[in-house]
Amino acid sequence: MLSNLFAGIFFLSQVVLTTQTTVIKIGHIYYFEAERAVMQMAYEDMKEQNLLPDVYEIQVISRMGCALYNTNLSILHGVKEATDLYFKENARVLFGSPCSEETVVIGQMAATVNWNVPLIGYLASDDALSNKAIYSTVARTGVVSQNFFAQAIKFLVQKNGWKKVAYVGSDIFASTLNRQSVVSELTSAGVAVYQMVIPLSSTWQSVANSKAIVDLKANARVVFVMLNSEMNASVPFMAAAHSLGYTEDPEFVFVIIVSQSTFTSRPWDSNYDGMSYSYLREAYEGAYIIRVTGQDFATVTKFRQKLLASQQYTNPIGNDAYVMPIYDAVVLYLTALNRSWADSRNESLYANGAVMFEYMKNVVYQGFTGKVFINNNGDRIPSYEFVLLPKQVNRAYTVLMSIDATRLNGCDPIAKGNLCYPYNITVTDDYHSVIWPPDHPICGYRHELCDNTLYFILGGTLMAAAIGIAVIFYAVKKRKQRLIYLMPWQVPLDSIKMLSSGTVV
Ligand SMILES: *[C@@H]1O[C@H](CO)[C@@H](O)[C@H](O)[C@H]1NC(C)=O
Ligand SMILES: *[C@@H]1O[C@H](CO)[C@@H](O)[C@H](O)[C@H]1NC(C)=O
Ligand SMILES: *[C@@H]1O[C@H](CO)[C@@H](O)[C@H](O)[C@H]1NC(C)=O
Ligand SMILES: *[C@@H]1O[C@H](CO)[C@@H](O)[C@H](O)[C@H]1NC(C)=O
Ligand SMILES: *[C@@H]1O[C@H](CO)[C@@H](O)[C@H](O)[C@H]1NC(C)=O
Repeated sequence: MLSNLFAGIFFLSQVVLTTQTTVIKIGHIYYFEAERAVMQMAYEDMKEQNLLPDVYEIQVISRMGCALYNTNLSILHGVKEATDLYFKENARVLFGSPCSEETVVIGQMAATVNWNVPLIGYLASDDALSNKAIYSTVARTGVVSQNFFAQAIKFLVQKNGWKKVAYVGSDIFASTLNRQSVVSELTSAGVAVYQMVIPLSSTWQSVANSKAIVDLKANARVVFVMLNSEMNASVPFMAAAHSLGYTEDPEFVFVIIVSQSTFTSRPWDSNYDGMSYSYLREAYEGAYIIRVTGQDFATVTKFRQKLLASQQYTNPIGNDAYVMPIYDAVVLYLTALNRSWADSRNESLYANGAVMFEYMKNVVYQGFTGKVFINNNGDRIPSYEFVLLPKQVNRAYTVLMSIDATRLNGCDPIAKGNLCYPYNITVTDDYHSVIWPPDHPICGYRHELCDNTLYFILGGTLMAAAIGIAVIFYAVKKRKQRLIYLMPWQVPLDSIKMLSSGTVV
């Protein structure tokens, strides 16, 4: 009886508890207006799917950061805003900044003992953030990690058995970061990389007239190109290579590294520097692309339409692919929140950075573009695709190879860490039907092995040998003749009488 009463009181207290709601104040440092719209859309979707426990309500307070890209703001303005959000607004969960240079500072503050708040990144791609000795409360859903991209490129190079490749990059930050990661990953795998770096502002004429592009041909046939994140940044180089006949040369393989696909237009759509559509189209025909899975045009378009339908938000700068990972960031945090609440029934745990990080790492969940894999560092493992540009002018590229994030069944990340997340590399039938040219042409990079001078040298040697043989033959013959003359039975020539029949007696 008494125990029933206690049970009743306990039950009542539970009811009372669950009818009170805790407001989770999320401090959000953003750069693009679209980030705020995506965050709102994701949050509403997840509420509909009951991912947010009833005990919570969410309030998002957004402030602008990314001072580096906004001359109106003082240096590291986003850091100042994050501090303000923590102290003045009592925000206990942080999203952003999308800019690495601010996140590397905010992430350190978030991890300090007195803050200890979760920070969810979605665009900050600095590999330093993977260091969990410092960034112990930071989880990330972005897909622009240079480290993972470099690994994907290594898998491709190894699969095709290439031992020497070229990397054509530019002088801008995104390209430099990618080039450094790729070169270091390939070099340590025993692949030689010839590097060509041109200013991003180069015209195709200046590239075509440069010594660098001649040297490129003298050093490699497999060429990776990344002048900037978008595919169309490669136009000055591809147009120059086309003007020199490289793109039609079957010895060449061009692989364009694409880390973002936000532009609606394709490289050949724009009337680039007086070049016609068909000329540019030709320049790209038969080229390959290595890109992040789920960042293709069709998926980005689907996302854009959903955003428009749910928020009536028309993204004026069309950077939808850029802001897609925010959706997955919201899902990651709410998934962790739902699980932590189910486990602890402790309403204030949501703000505990160290605890929430444990719930945000080593998880696999459904994001906007499919399964999201978060590894032992709280970093998303992006998947990649190696595709061929089709001959027809459409966007349906032919997938040749998939480099997919996976998690090994029954693998314990506590013991094995990130070894539980090997890439699953699969090739399609279309891949098998390609006859890959060797990384080193049969005639050599400079055609030195099939050169005319070689023929001359070879021809000369053969002729000398023939003459030599003839001379020796003649000398031997002469000597034999001489010996005949010395024979005791030698018949004098004048004693030989010719018969009318022509027989000699
Ligand atoms: C949230 O957690 C509860 C358990 O507390 C679970 O029943 C529910 O399925 C979870 N929601 C989602 C969308 O996963
Ligand atoms: C920066 O300041 C200028 C002049 O005050 C203003 O026109 C512009 O809109 C501002 N830009 C941003 C991104 O706030
Ligand atoms: C790439 O496309 C963007 C957006 O359409 C445009 O602003 C830019 O100039 C293009 N770049 C090149 C090199 O054509
Ligand atoms: C709930 O979580 C908070 C924050 O981590 C912690 O300080 C508190 O002790 C927890 N309460 C209980 C009852 O475990
Ligand atoms: C690897 O990918 C292939 C093709 O998508 C799939 O059939 C296979 O199950 C995957 N393997 C693992 C371990 O995920």
